[in-house]
Amino acid sequence: MKFFIDTADLDEIRDLAATGLLDGVTTNPSLIAKSGRDMLEVIREICDVVPGDVSAEVTAMDYHNMVREGQRLANIADNVVVKVPLTMDGLKACRTLSNEGTKVNVTLCFSAAQALLAAKAGATYISPFVGRLDDIGTPGMQLIEDIVDIYLNYPDLETEVLVASIRSPMHLVDAAKVGAHVATLPPSVLRQLFSHPLTDKGLADFMADWEKTGQSIMDAGGQDAASESTG
Ligand code: E4P
Repeated sequence: MKFFIDTADLDEIRDLAATGLLDGVTTNPSLIAKSGRDMLEVIREICDVVPGDVSAEVTAMDYHNMVREGQRLANIADNVVVKVPLTMDGLKACRTLSNEGTKVNVTLCFSAAQALLAAKAGATYISPFVGRLDDIGTPGMQLIEDIVDIYLNYPDLETEVLVASIRSPMHLVDAAKVGAHVATLPPSVLRQLFSHPLTDKGLADFMADWEKTGQSIMDAGGQDAASESTG
């Protein structure tokens, strides 16, 4: 499963990219607004930091201007993926950009029927929004399972399911269980994945016992260590 992070905050991206666990980044107009930065500049910098796919969203509402904006965004760097909304114009733009060799992420997907249309339009990624469905009392993860199942019925469809609007580690685990290809995680959720209270407790206990020995690995070994240091 690929891990993307869902942010336009360069400090977060640099920090998390250093873990070696990041496969890409997703942004949207709200995240760009939150960064307070020029969109083209910030996307260029993200593409320099993360070699994987970086989604940049068009803001035009009509086909013609979506394609123009998409072409401009795609020219920023080789790893830009153009994000378009799941509307009729968005899917027309998806087909055109995809025919031109540009990767497209179709966003704001809330039904399996929409996901099927996006795949037929040549989307590289479909982004169903789990958290926003949960928010209105509809089980978001059921949609992920449905889309994964439907795509499996048609091996010719190459679209990958990119689980968006993730709010918790359980969303990620459930998405992995049903076989979603990608999860885009808010940085705070990615950080949460590392933690477990039993890891913290176990480590504290090991360190307390180790301190009692008075040893240091770098100083241990007697004769072996002496020969190592002289080569
Ligand atoms: C990512 O591509 C989406 O824009 C994002 O995951 C939406 O998340 P939200 O519902 O928390 O805003």
